[in-house]
Amino acid sequence: MEVEKTPREELIEQRIINSETRIFKAVFPGDTNHHNTMFGGSVMYLMDEIAFMTATRFCRKPIVTVSSDKIDFKHSIPAGTIVEMVGKVVRVGRSSLDVQIDVFIESMYRDGRDKAISGTFTLVAINENKRPVPVID
Ligand SMILES: CC(C)(COP(=O)(O)OP(=O)(O)OC[C@H]1O[C@@H](n2cnc3c(N)ncnc32)[C@H](O)[C@@H]1OP(=O)(O)O)[C@@H](O)C(=O)NCCC(=O)NCCS
Repeated sequence: MEVEKTPREELIEQRIINSETRIFKAVFPGDTNHHNTMFGGSVMYLMDEIAFMTATRFCRKPIVTVSSDKIDFKHSIPAGTIVEMVGKVVRVGRSSLDVQIDVFIESMYRDGRDKAISGTFTLVAINENKRPVPVID
């Protein structure tokens, strides 16, 4: 039997869909380390930025990052590829929410993509005094 969703659950579900955030980046030599692959710190910077955008688009309130879980660098990202980063809200608390970031590598010259990196960030909605407020009113 299907359990009916509450208005809050429906609102959360809709906001999760609407706030999914994707960015693409061409990996040029200026982005890489001496192995000719993308520098891990630059990847983490972008992941945090996408987590921030996803969370902001979800709740439309001021947001700060409070924590990040383990980030798995399963494959390196070579120069001359395209990366796609996808942010999605995966948990909604009172004032905090979790955003999962998946990073995919795509060759410039063939179709398809592979997941290279994933990680989860926790972000908190704050008021003008920088104190936590509900992510959804
Ligand atoms: C975010 C901040 C306002 C939270 O303040 P706080 O006093 O810890 O607030 P609370 O204890 O009420 O926690 C608020 C929420 O954050 C969550 N939280 C706090 N610390 C956390 C952590 N280390 N990991 C995961 N969640 C955390 C709590 O579980 C709570 O979630 P809920 O409301 O959904 O239940 C404060 O820690 C802060 O300002 N941190 C700096 C943020 C920042 O500047 N980030 C940029 C990077 S430099």
